Amino acid sequence: MDKEKIRKIISEMTLEEKAGLCSGADTWRLKAVERLGIPSVMVSDGPHGLRKQEGRTDHLGLNESIKAVCFPAACALASSFDAGLAQKIGDKLGEECRAENVSVLLGPAVNIKRSPLCGRNFEYFSEDPFLAGKMAAAQIRGIQKWDVGTSLKHFAANNQEHCRMTCSSNLSERTLREIYLTAFEIAVKEAKPWSIMCSYNKVNGVFASENKKLLTDILRDEWEFDGFVVSDWGAVNERVDGLEAGLDLEMPSSEGIQDARIVSAVRGGRIPESVLDTAVERILDKVFEYVEHEHPEAVFDREEHHGAAAEAEKECAVLLKNSGVLPLSRKQKIAYIGEFAEIPRYQGGGSSHINPWRVNGALAATEGKNKVIYVKGFPHDSDCASEEEIEAAVEAAGQADVAVIFAGLPDSYESEGYDRTHLRLPDCQNRLIERICRVQDNVVIVLHNGSPVELPWADKVSAILEMYLGGEGVGEAADALLYGEANPSGRLPETFPMCLEHTPAFLNFPGDGENVDYREEVFVGYRYYETKKLPVRYPFGHGLSYTEFEYTDMRLSAKSISPGQKLTVQVDVKNTGKRSGSEAVQVYISDRTGTPGRPIKELKGFEKVSLAPGETKTVEIILDERAFQWYHEGMGKWYAKAGSYAVCAAHSSADVRLVAEVDYESGCVPPLKADKNTTIMQLLEHPATKAATAQMLSSFKSQIPQSRDGSEANAISSMMMREMVLNAPLRALVNFKLIDGTAMERLIVQFNTLLSGGK
Ligand code: BGC
Repeated sequence: MDKEKIRKIISEMTLEEKAGLCSGADTWRLKAVERLGIPSVMVSDGPHGLRKQEGRTDHLGLNESIKAVCFPAACALASSFDAGLAQKIGDKLGEECRAENVSVLLGPAVNIKRSPLCGRNFEYFSEDPFLAGKMAAAQIRGIQKWDVGTSLKHFAANNQEHCRMTCSSNLSERTLREIYLTAFEIAVKEAKPWSIMCSYNKVNGVFASENKKLLTDILRDEWEFDGFVVSDWGAVNERVDGLEAGLDLEMPSSEGIQDARIVSAVRGGRIPESVLDTAVERILDKVFEYVEHEHPEAVFDREEHHGAAAEAEKECAVLLKNSGVLPLSRKQKIAYIGEFAEIPRYQGGGSSHINPWRVNGALAATEGKNKVIYVKGFPHDSDCASEEEIEAAVEAAGQADVAVIFAGLPDSYESEGYDRTHLRLPDCQNRLIERICRVQDNVVIVLHNGSPVELPWADKVSAILEMYLGGEGVGEAADALLYGEANPSGRLPETFPMCLEHTPAFLNFPGDGENVDYREEVFVGYRYYETKKLPVRYPFGHGLSYTEFEYTDMRLSAKSISPGQKLTVQVDVKNTGKRSGSEAVQVYISDRTGTPGRPIKELKGFEKVSLAPGETKTVEIILDERAFQWYHEGMGKWYAKAGSYAVCAAHSSADVRLVAEVDYESGCVPPLKADKNTTIMQLLEHPATKAATAQMLSSFKSQIPQSRDGSEANAISSMMMREMVLNAPLRALVNFKLIDGTAMERLIVQFNTLLSGGK
């Protein structure tokens, strides 16, 4: 509906009706205003399936919802490193929404995995904001193609469950922008989600739900978001402050309490009615967009969607290790151990919990194909196995050609609402794996978990296949991958650390309940491990295949790039093995200008290609200026220093295959105002003052002691001299009697004239 018509409707609404429209009718529905033809529309969770509740409702996944297909959770989907796949899954989700009359799907969720302990990491994509943003944008495009909306969540810096409704995430502007907002920014700019869900927590002391800087200044003014902002369920602290800050819709219903507050705030002159009108307009815009394209008769084929979920998971699973035991042959004598083979864990707990259409475990998936010996070994839902269970499993494993152990985290280990406290698998699983390794050389581990776990036995087993929480088709996917009917091509969207103590936020997670300080700053995930040179179990981007790929002939479209220009990176990738397979080419940028405080390298592009044996394809990745920039707090904008940058084409963050250099021609330099404490180095680095400073230094030459011979002592003293001069503030020139006070004042004026563009 066009804006004029919506404004006309708003002009006919009473103040009470307008205030009412800004909060839900119940848990899932918005209010109707029947006399004006405004219908009540429904929203549902998300993100990896439809949790549409028709009976008793709740926002924590406690009561039953309709049967829907459970697709791979974001932790798995991100592992595909395939935006096309995220769009395909979005497409299925959108179709389900339309058929179920759901106007907005509450997802995707792009919060960064700051610590592997966060209980909701399984719902999030990555430790890397670029990957998270690209996957979310693609998923949104797929869903919204069906004229239903998405709600990109949880905005922002919501990276833990501990005290999630009150705790303040405290972080620097640079950290916020580079790590915690970038994924939202990419998704908002590239895919225009209908809505954004603001998070429960505070950001630097201000509730996200009443944070004007986030909800208006950044989201709308900078990124040009034009949808509505909805609160996370129960995230409203002060409703009127929230409305003023840019929070349009409160969910769930406030039972009229907040509506009355809004009415009295307008009547009492506390806020202008126009603020309310704007919120109503944003909500109605999307309500009508949905109803005007509604298809009440639409249906979808659950079986077909189930197949799509299983196919997708084949692209997501990550082969972490393979000494050659995989793929298996259906002729081998194989033992399946662990109840996850029968009852897989394929989704996490909380508001994203789907009532699945049909779940098949890996054991059932072998039916009609091969016979395996199955021993439960340990239960899927708890931490205790009896000695008899363990004994029986060890015995069966010892007699087989290969033992495949289906391990993972029980439901209670990771869920919305609370964080993990350690990264261990249940002890009984670790014990069983160790014991089986003593009697069997061919041990394959299939993992079902939403977030990294410590793998103390990694060097002893032959293969590890990470399925993550792979959706209801996880069993079929595991079956196809184990026997080589599908070729693994997933890549880790997060680092698997050696141990919890190595993780970047270890000392500052989850804070004291009131505050959590993001002291590791931008050094999250691989940005941290690489800089600290810490060994990791498996690096970001890692994942094996049953074939091999060779990278050759990297080409850059230019030798240099200026702001506003794009750089095309091309690399030829050849499948040198004997099976078809897919390779996710990753492009990282590394700052070689010597700028302090930057990670070693950062992911700025990725593309997955499928290749038949012997086939070569050219992968093309386009980089823009943002690929080189970081957020400069002093300038209040994105910036990169002029100079050299390495473009790395990589198989994983730890496996760079080809490197090329490009020059970035910066359009600007950080501002400088000279005073008596400005250093010679600052003046030499600034293009406006560089020449004048060099000239000044050469005029001092005769007064500065010079090294006379090539002796080591002299080399040291001249190095010391050099550093002392470079680090000296202008006032030190007076102390060193190189100039007097009046000359210094004259110099300051002269430098400032140059700095402000004069001559
Ligand atoms: C979650 C959201 C969810 C909402 C509605 C909240 O508890 O944080 O992700 O969309 O409930 O169920």
